[in-house]
Amino acid sequence: MKPKVIVTRNFSGKWIERLKEFADVTLWQKDAPADREWLISNVKGKDGAIVMLTDSVDRELIEAGKGLKAISTMSVGYDHIDAEYARKNGIVVSNTPDVLTDSTADMGMALLLSAARRIVEGDRLVRNKGWKEKWKPDFMLGLEVSGKTLGIYGLGRIGKAVAERARAFSMNVIYYSRTDKRVGFAEYVDFKKLLSESDFLVVTVSLNEETRNSIDKAALDAMKNDAILVNISRGPVVDEIALYEALKGGNIAGAALDVYTEEPVNLDSPLVNLENIVLSPHLGSATIETRDKMAELAVTNLIEALKGNRPKYTV
Ligand code: DGY
Repeated sequence: MKPKVIVTRNFSGKWIERLKEFADVTLWQKDAPADREWLISNVKGKDGAIVMLTDSVDRELIEAGKGLKAISTMSVGYDHIDAEYARKNGIVVSNTPDVLTDSTADMGMALLLSAARRIVEGDRLVRNKGWKEKWKPDFMLGLEVSGKTLGIYGLGRIGKAVAERARAFSMNVIYYSRTDKRVGFAEYVDFKKLLSESDFLVVTVSLNEETRNSIDKAALDAMKNDAILVNISRGPVVDEIALYEALKGGNIAGAALDVYTEEPVNLDSPLVNLENIVLSPHLGSATIETRDKMAELAVTNLIEALKGNRPKYTV
């Protein structure tokens, strides 16, 4: 008999078909995150689950899925899963790192450059008929990146890949990481120094109780007044109200966010009305190639776990 599997989003067809060769698949069909009620009732009696970062895989869901052997998330982040509780219940939890490292690091650099060189602001200006003169010596001046210090908060796979890209832009790289993973050309500094010395601070640290709100008012106050903050990790690492105050009051020069406390971002958030911030809608891994690899890996991880093998990536 085939194992029974629940899949909470209808992703890349060919990988769902591959999964169907191995398992009986119950698939959420709508083009929206799966309903909580549907999840709770359909996880019952399943051997495995492929979930998205939009699903809250908490104790209630894990208990509803008594008998689950494996949970595979199509994401590198797993802050939406109570992984400790799942493991305690003998469930193998896997994720999809590596395959999204380059695309997410590219996004980090794209946001950094967009904020530094005011690209999105410039685009808005052109469309709003605000470009009046051919060229002007002091028109829309931004910040240069070469020769500046890039601080990386959390030197995991993505942090390292951002560091490599920054080097190609002739930046000096410093980093702070709880588990100090060295990169030859980057200098390890403590958190205080990371904040005070970075011209550009890129947040790549994963979200946990230690990092939640760690970029708070005190952290933002410790940054340079002409610094730019980029967040490609998870929204709750940054205190958005403190960020708004810092941007409005000129404590830092700019920011670029791909992730938010609430997603989609609440349009009532005062951040949305600031000029000196670039906002993108959680696009870190959003390339055709990466999403295909994430789908393949999420399926492969689940199949391996259900065969009793250790998937390539467990958390
Ligand atoms: C992840 O995989 O955790 C990313 O946030 C997806 O874009």
